[in-house]
Amino acid sequence: MAFPIHRPRRLRKNENIRRLVRETKLSIDDLIYPLFIEDGKNIKTEIPSMPGIYRYSLDKLDEELKEIIDLNIPAVLLFGIPSYKDEIGSDTWNEEGIIQKAIKYIKDKYPELYVITDVCFCEYTEHGHCGVLCCNDVDNDKTLENTKKQVISHAKAGADMVAPSGMMDGVVKVIREALDSEGFVDIPIMSYSAKYASSYYGPFRDAAESAPAFGDRRTYQMDPANRREALKEVALDLEEGADIVMVKPALAYLDIISDVKNNFNVPVAAYNVSGEYSMIKAAGKLGWIDEKKVIFETLTSIKRAGADIIITYHAKEVAKEIG
Ligand code: PBG
Ligand code: ZN
Repeated sequence: MAFPIHRPRRLRKNENIRRLVRETKLSIDDLIYPLFIEDGKNIKTEIPSMPGIYRYSLDKLDEELKEIIDLNIPAVLLFGIPSYKDEIGSDTWNEEGIIQKAIKYIKDKYPELYVITDVCFCEYTEHGHCGVLCCNDVDNDKTLENTKKQVISHAKAGADMVAPSGMMDGVVKVIREALDSEGFVDIPIMSYSAKYASSYYGPFRDAAESAPAFGDRRTYQMDPANRREALKEVALDLEEGADIVMVKPALAYLDIISDVKNNFNVPVAAYNVSGEYSMIKAAGKLGWIDEKKVIFETLTSIKRAGADIIITYHAKEVAKEIG
């Protein structure tokens, strides 16, 4: 009769006891919502492969911003879709560029919203690569020179935090020095430290018009087969002064999130990327999965793996549910 002594099911008997022993709880406090801002007027265009996600011009952004604030989402991550592109992405440091205007607009009108900027060049270059080209590849050190200008212009416009996503070597060091030399010692850096050359970015590249015109990003983003290398990237970024480190994408890389969490005592962010969002939306639309439940299970798995912060296009849906 006494067999077995250990019955783990005792702690699953009803929702009350399940609540008491639940190990991971999603919170609105964990979430960052990405926003696509397009230069121009009167634009609110849904991204076909990302239902529910739009590109906005600044004059159409208020409703979205108010909703984000009402839902108590702490931060947004800005991506710009500029009207001007060139070989080197010089519009990234234009004082009147779309991101600079967006930062000023948001911080002016909604100072309580924390504004993070993606620091990269791919949306701003004609060739769609993440920096200055040389010999059919992105030149690391020339790109770093331009990154300084970009990041200072974001800081001057009022960005609260910057997030370099181009996977250039030494980028965190260069950004920290640039920010500090201009007096922006309090602006933190969230580095896309372990960013993989992933096929899950497809919908984002449609949304941001940032697909490479030739080749791919495998000379700068990480090989999806590598695990040890992620720890090296993270260690370097921390040495160079990163405040928060990121793993991207999230779902196919939960082992990496877990490794980073267990090896470094710092805040870890995970980017639940566009393709991960689109797959759930597509299956949900077809009626093949219970969309809401799958969203919660998915985001909970990212947090359980070790992410303190989750950047996700689901942020508003989740906040509505748990708010
Ligand atoms: C730009 C950038 C990308 C993403 C964030 N910043 C795309 C890329 O590297 O090609 C992907 C985000 C997503 O898929 O949701 N460097
Ligand atoms: Zn890029």
